Amino acid sequence: MRVIAIANQKGGCGKTTTSINLAACLSHLQRKTLLIDFDPQGHSTCGLGVVAEKLPYTLYDLICAGEGPRPLLSDVIVELDPCLALLPSYVILSKIEAEYARPQDFEGVLVRSLDLPWLEQQGIEFILIDCPPNLGKLTYSAFESASDVLIPIEPSFFSLHGLAKISETLEQIKIRRIFPVEVHALMTLFDGDNGFAKEVHDNVYKNFQQKLFKTVIHTHSLLKEASAAGQSIVRYAPDSPPCRDYLELAVELLDRIEGTVRTASHSSESEVRMRFGPKRVIGGMMFQYYNRLASRVQIAGDFSGWIPTPMFQRTTDGVWQIVVPITSGHYRYKFIVDGEWQMDPSHPFQMKNNFGSYDSYVELNRIA
Ligand SMILES: Nc1ncnc2c1ncn2[C@@H]1O[C@H](COP(=O)(O)OP(=O)(O)OP(=O)(O)O)[C@@H](O)[C@H]1O
Ligand SMILES: [Mg+2]
Repeated sequence: MRVIAIANQKGGCGKTTTSINLAACLSHLQRKTLLIDFDPQGHSTCGLGVVAEKLPYTLYDLICAGEGPRPLLSDVIVELDPCLALLPSYVILSKIEAEYARPQDFEGVLVRSLDLPWLEQQGIEFILIDCPPNLGKLTYSAFESASDVLIPIEPSFFSLHGLAKISETLEQIKIRRIFPVEVHALMTLFDGDNGFAKEVHDNVYKNFQQKLFKTVIHTHSLLKEASAAGQSIVRYAPDSPPCRDYLELAVELLDRIEGTVRTASHSSESEVRMRFGPKRVIGGMMFQYYNRLASRVQIAGDFSGWIPTPMFQRTTDGVWQIVVPITSGHYRYKFIVDGEWQMDPSHPFQMKNNFGSYDSYVELNRIA
């Protein structure tokens, strides 16, 4: 399980927007994800259409300082869809820092309250923590539990100015950690036509190098509209450019963490093609198709009643992917590339169909 704290002490840089939409995209890719709203502003909670005032419990009840009985984690979690759950928050969370007078009493509070083995039993693969815009006790507590820290950076003068502060934050993380933490940086609110934005991007790259995601999240009004409507961009506008940005981010993150796909840069087309047969991944089977020129790739098969389902394109290396939640059995399938049905060129197994032609064929226990 990966626990990813989404943090930056600078306000308004896209922490909440990234938390909500990355969580929604991971869940869309059938990866069970829990989003923890760790900010007393409760923006991840209301941004997903959950009204905290109407809930019997919020995160505060799990981690408050009092001695009284606490709710079960399962009573606080709100299930939003089969692969997406939320630990909601409300303004009362702002009391928490004052409740724990001695900083050492607050240490480990989130880890203690989370019951990670139970979450793992529930199949949760990713926990995203939306942190508040400061380096207070809540943020430190998130860092203590995190395997990864994702820093959203928006291209403004103030964020450049704040880079030193971010580096300081990273040092603070290292001091407080026993285990190493993976750091990731993400450009958000990016306007490609703006020269200054590009300049900031280059500066951020100098600072973070490979830790900076290739994916950038462009400025798009649909993201504001989606959160005002209490929905993720996957629900609100699944075919939109900002949805594609966040799906690319989810796929790039999975690639970084799991290394399921390597980049194509130094190999011939045919060598590259052979690497992309179906692969078992947590949550099902990942189907992959390599084609740099296609503008739309879908998959259809026994698992979808032969209804074409869109695959998602990785940033710039021509790889299209989807995770289908199947864990056993055998299935026929085909890719639909710009409207043309074709077999999987990276997978050698085929089966004759009722129309006299062939389908690709996958049997789960035959996959390496
Ligand atoms: N890519 C984007 N395009 C357009 N608007 C965006 C984008 N990302 C974020 N916003 C908007 O910018 C504002 C700040 O974003 P967000 O709330 O995600 O930042 P934050 O870092 O969580 O803020 P805070 O520090 O207050 O927690 C919001 O109104 C949000 O809708
Ligand atoms: Mg926020």
